[in-house]
Amino acid sequence: MWNINELINGRSGFIGVISSYISENELNLFKEYIKNNFVNDGGLVYVCSSSIKEQCLQFLNELDKDLKKLININRLVLISRDEYIVNRKINMDKLINRIAMEIARLSEIIADKKTCVYICVDSFWNSLNLRKVREVYIKLRELYNAGKANFIIRYIVEDIDNPHIIPILQYHDYLIVDGVDNFEAYTPEELVHKALTLLSEKHSINYKCYKVMMKNEYLENMEQSMAGIIHDINNLLVSILGYAQYSLQIDDMNEIRKGLEVISRLALDGSCITKKVKSNFKRSFETQKDIYKFNYIVENCLDMVKHKFKSLALSKTKNLELSVSLDSKNYIYANEYDLRHSINNIIQNGIEAMEDRGILTVRTYDEGDNIVLEISDTGCGIDERLMNHVFKPYFTTKGARGTGLGLSIAKKIFEEHGGKIYIDSKVGEGTKFTIYFPAIKFDESVAEKKQEVYNTD
Ligand SMILES: Nc1ncnc2c1ncn2[C@@H]1O[C@H](COP(=O)(O)OP(=O)(O)OP(=O)(O)O)[C@@H](O)[C@H]1O
Ligand SMILES: [Mg+2]
Repeated sequence: MWNINELINGRSGFIGVISSYISENELNLFKEYIKNNFVNDGGLVYVCSSSIKEQCLQFLNELDKDLKKLININRLVLISRDEYIVNRKINMDKLINRIAMEIARLSEIIADKKTCVYICVDSFWNSLNLRKVREVYIKLRELYNAGKANFIIRYIVEDIDNPHIIPILQYHDYLIVDGVDNFEAYTPEELVHKALTLLSEKHSINYKCYKVMMKNEYLENMEQSMAGIIHDINNLLVSILGYAQYSLQIDDMNEIRKGLEVISRLALDGSCITKKVKSNFKRSFETQKDIYKFNYIVENCLDMVKHKFKSLALSKTKNLELSVSLDSKNYIYANEYDLRHSINNIIQNGIEAMEDRGILTVRTYDEGDNIVLEISDTGCGIDERLMNHVFKPYFTTKGARGTGLGLSIAKKIFEEHGGKIYIDSKVGEGTKFTIYFPAIKFDESVAEKKQEVYNTD
């Protein structure tokens, strides 16, 4: 519990009490203070503002015996602020003169004892301009310097105007600051120092939090990008290995050549992966987009998986069919690498869902300004309860065989291309993914030319 005597004792001076608001608790604490000063033969000039007048009068009345005793011996003067307000202007000169007069009178009575002056100020201090506030302080300090009185001026934080802060710091010997449950005494210099320390602590804490947050965010992004990149590398290696193994089993030179072409294209994809890794470290992930005939991307995509169907056809024990009808004529503005790998993720899932037996159907067609891509399989299907989870990163039902990233990456990339993905599935019957992309208007002759250069078919 705050004990103002402890704080003020030995600190006779011009003291400011800065508190957050006038609470009953605080008034009681002052009551204690005043009581103790009465006991010590102190005196009091009390200036209260009209807003708390009732409360203050009641509180002073409650001092009861001590108070009455002091009034009887002329040691207490109560000055209400209202007496000094004329037309809402406070005649501060009159107020200060009155205080000086009362101090002089009490000084005579109390002889060598100093009078205690408690001035409870709220918004009325703010009704004065800065020049006037300084004048008041100068006069009050003169009284203090003359050794007649100790001053305690109480400020309520929310009523202090910015320009008043400097005079408060300039004129007080001590400032008593209201904490949550206690008060602390500082010299104005200490208070400024404390305020600056608090500010700098707050700033450094914020800065530290900010740095930790940034680091976490960076690591999280990094982890996700790296996982995505590993997924891509894995896809590449599976396709390269597939074509290599298939080529080793056949004698048809034309087929082998086609396989080698795909392998070399996939190896070139590896350079895209290195670029991705580099840009991740630089934290700038610029995706290069260009205009492509949509079917061109899907064809390249199918190239990455055809080996699987061909190899299985060779083994004759399994039956996996690929049905393709690419009817779209439209163009898309895309990052070919990203889009191809994302479509491949969906195709791959379809193949995995069929466990080497069934039909994978890939269709493209145009619908108004949209290009539609349908990838369907006759595999195990997706349980309705899992439907909401399949796009979440790391969700997999394949145990150690899956990372659970394929669909989440694909969805993100499709959305980056303005696309929307929908699933239609029935357990035991199969799954259909339908993806809608916005087509762009493009001069076909220019586009065809450009893609002839890339297309190795
Ligand atoms: N065509 C599909 N048929 C049945 N289930 C599917 C199909 N596509 C996705 N799923 C379900 O969605 C889950 C998430 O797919 P996703 O591609 O994100 O990860 P994954 O295939 O398990 O792992 P990864 O792609 O890393 O190999 C799969 O584990 C599977 O349960
Ligand atoms: Mg997958």
